[in-house]
Amino acid sequence: MAYNLLKGKKGIIFGALDEHSIAWKTAERVHAEGGAFVLTNAPVALRMGQINELAKKTGSEIIAADATSEEDLNNLVTQAMEILGGKLDFVLHSIGMSVNVRKGNHYTGENYAYTTKGWDISALSFHKVLQTLYKADAMNEWGSVVALTYMASQRSFPDYNDMADNKAYLESIARSFGYFFGKEKKVRVNTISQSPTATTAGQGVKGFDGFISYAEQMSPLGNASAQDCADYTVSLFSDLTRKVTMQNLFHDGGFSNTGVSLEVIEKFTK
Ligand SMILES: NC(=O)c1ccc[n+]([C@@H]2O[C@H](COP(=O)([O-])OP(=O)(O)OC[C@H]3O[C@@H](n4cnc5c(N)ncnc54)[C@H](O)[C@@H]3O)[C@@H](O)[C@H]2O)c1
Repeated sequence: MAYNLLKGKKGIIFGALDEHSIAWKTAERVHAEGGAFVLTNAPVALRMGQINELAKKTGSEIIAADATSEEDLNNLVTQAMEILGGKLDFVLHSIGMSVNVRKGNHYTGENYAYTTKGWDISALSFHKVLQTLYKADAMNEWGSVVALTYMASQRSFPDYNDMADNKAYLESIARSFGYFFGKEKKVRVNTISQSPTATTAGQGVKGFDGFISYAEQMSPLGNASAQDCADYTVSLFSDLTRKVTMQNLFHDGGFSNTGVSLEVIEKFTK
């Protein structure tokens, strides 16, 4: 069901890699709600080509940008405003990658060059995106910027590795930059803390199958899917949430406030 919640709104969506990506589902949902946007991803991801299908479906243009490159981000924001014909109303940062996870390094045996690269991509890039938008005065008043995070930023999840630290940093940026963006330009900045979701990035986490079924059993409403996340993000881009900013918003079927569930107790009862 569509409600025209984003009619006339314009934005940028980072991170649609394939049809499983949270950003892909969000782009489809934003389109259905009447929003127009530019799609972007790292040049290496664009070479995989699947994003062309999404662009066609949603009538969007694609601009390559490595989210760690200030030059790429400046070019992206300038071009997006030209293509869309004015300032932006929403931006989705849906980007994450840990080189340590990819290379199989344990958290207690990090390669710090990899750690730094993963932090730049997964966390600092959010500051770079916000700073680029802020300096270019690219956001309309009451605009909304959302980044995706996971609750390993606040509780220990052994296999989430250095991504846990990256997500803690990301959430802090939403609060710190959100203050200035709110005060100076009336722009909202929030993070959504999403359930484990079967995407390329999600499945990179060791033991992901166990992880996702445990979360499912621990959440009174069950895990939130990528599609559910798209719906929630649309609400945060809409005018119905104008006074929500600097928040880390749990979107996890109740997982974060559950101590233990009956299903989990049953598994341990002899
Ligand atoms: N899947 C999960 O379980 C889960 C749970 C909570 C939060 N998240 C977060 O959701 C976001 C989206 O991930 P996803 O699960 O849809 O997986 P995904 O693999 O589909 O998306 C990750 C995206 O990051 C992009 N990316 C990587 N390096 C980049 C760079 N240098 N510049 C620009 N883009 C770059 C990739 O190309 C890809 O499109 C991430 O921040 C992830 O941490 C995922």
